[in-house]
Amino acid sequence: MTSRPFIVAIDGPAASGKGTLARRLAERFGLAHLDTGTLYRATALLVLEDNADPADPVAATAAARRVDQSLLSDPLLRDERVAHAASVVAANPEVRQALLDFQRNFAAHPPVPARGAVLDGRDIGSVVCPAADVKLFVTADPEVRALRRLAELQASGVAAIYSDVLQELEYRDTRDAGRGTAPMVVPPDAVVINTTALDADAVLERASDIVSRAIAG
Ligand code: CDP
Repeated sequence: MTSRPFIVAIDGPAASGKGTLARRLAERFGLAHLDTGTLYRATALLVLEDNADPADPVAATAAARRVDQSLLSDPLLRDERVAHAASVVAANPEVRQALLDFQRNFAAHPPVPARGAVLDGRDIGSVVCPAADVKLFVTADPEVRALRRLAELQASGVAAIYSDVLQELEYRDTRDAGRGTAPMVVPPDAVVINTTALDADAVLERASDIVSRAIAG
């Protein structure tokens, strides 16, 4: 094995199952995991806590510069208002630049003893880690993603309505795919996994085969 960390890049739209897959792949292969969405969510939460406007570039950039590891496990990050604001701050090029070093540093120096890292987000294979060893793009039909997010919200005790959840996912997908800087794209060298008809175990097995082949070289 080379000394360079082994990197798995996972991108995909909201609630596609990429986070669950990233966490389970990391466990299975002894890799560290960074959910890069938490960086944008933490930026958004800081802006909202200051009663500032997520669309204000000065407030959003200042917040992005304050993000550190200690903010990434706050349960408030999972709030749908925070997710909405995250997609607004994420369209700001200076916010993305401010968060890029954190992500690249994690990939270059995964916490010991991990021999590499799994990063999931929207622009990992395209911008953050373009030389990743494995690139996956995890997607599913919007209706299925909305049902999954609804179940997650309900399981955490949040009352939510299917049509609102679907509308919010579609709003974020459109913003994330349409922005000028680092839009969500399928990298040309990514393997697309459509999880519409697959459960989490089936997705894990499919992705594990791809990772195992890449590790074997
Ligand atoms: O969990 P979910 O898929 O709903 O969202 P997330 O991955 O936590 O990301 C929240 C928002 O952050 C997204 O809608 C994007 O606007 C932004 N994001 C991004 O722009 N780039 C990333 N690498 C990760 C997230």
